[in-house]
Amino acid sequence: MMESKAAIILAAAVLAVLFAPALGQKSSPPAPAPMSLPPTPAPAPAPHYVDLAELLSVAGPFHTFLNYLEKSNVIETFQGQANNTKVGITVFVPKDSAFSALKQSTFSNLTADQLKTLLLYHALPKFYSLAEFKNLSSLNPVNTFAGSPYTLNLTDDMGSIYVQSMWSRPKIASSVYATRPVAVYALNKVLLPMQLFSKDPPLAPVPAPAPEPGASDAPGPAAGKAGGLTGGKGDSTSAARDTGAVGVASSLLLAAAAGCLILQW
Ligand SMILES: *[C@@H]1O[C@H](CO)[C@@H](O)[C@H](O)[C@H]1NC(C)=O
Ligand SMILES: *[C@@H]1O[C@H](CO)[C@@H](O)[C@H](O)[C@H]1NC(C)=O
Ligand SMILES: *[C@@H]1O[C@H](CO)[C@@H](O)[C@H](O)[C@H]1NC(C)=O
Ligand SMILES: *[C@@H]1O[C@H](CO)[C@@H](O)[C@H](O)[C@H]1NC(C)=O
Repeated sequence: MMESKAAIILAAAVLAVLFAPALGQKSSPPAPAPMSLPPTPAPAPAPHYVDLAELLSVAGPFHTFLNYLEKSNVIETFQGQANNTKVGITVFVPKDSAFSALKQSTFSNLTADQLKTLLLYHALPKFYSLAEFKNLSSLNPVNTFAGSPYTLNLTDDMGSIYVQSMWSRPKIASSVYATRPVAVYALNKVLLPMQLFSKDPPLAPVPAPAPEPGASDAPGPAAGKAGGLTGGKGDSTSAARDTGAVGVASSLLLAAAAGCLILQW
């Protein structure tokens, strides 16, 4: 009896030592709370910084275009202009589905410089709100980031803004972001300048965008199943570990309960 009481007191002491840091940590969270207060005054008009890569990775899906921007480093050019809060930037971003309308070899046939030009062709080195585009039509052709021969014509048709390149004329599908100095507008088509695609339009003969969304949907559930399988494995191994841990934990809990009783006395 004496031995077991001693053991219980010892266990309680050990627990006290073990939990003391945990309690210390528990009392510390109130400290971060005041730290999280500053975001509240943040809405005050601070100089705007927009991380374009981050914006494009969460909006969209624009993964194909973002991938090209990052591989070619054109994202740096765009970000540099976005950081220029006086002039700003307007980027026309083709959705992932826009690329399925192109011939497979469209991008692989381009040299690195041509690919850069094509990407730069998708931006104007100035911020434009949608409202400003309505007036911009009088300024056509509009210079792009790609330089003087690479121009676009913007037209306002019954309130919809169309972006006219040589082989495509997509409508601005949506405004992804439009707060000075950064405007990002989604397009359903890739802009194709005459200078890069002079011979023939690089459009796929049969536009069949329907299977594409289905195909892109398929990996979702498949990935979900795979996740479920690994999750199951994880559960079984952790369960096996738990059975061992439960024994230790329950005896510690008993010891703790006993320790509390002793302390109350
Ligand atoms: C843009 O500004 C951010 C924040 O000031 C900075 O971290 C980033 O390096 C800048 N990027 C470029 C390309 O100028
Ligand atoms: C890419 O190059 C190949 C070989 O020269 C050609 O057959 C194909 O039509 C080209 N693709 C495009 C989109 O121009
Ligand atoms: C468009 O042009 C008209 C007439 O020139 C002007 O009154 C209006 O403010 C302009 N709108 C924008 C958004 O620039
Ligand atoms: C833009 O419009 C001008 C004048 O109408 C025309 O000459 C030019 O080819 C057009 N550019 C594009 C890319 O459609």
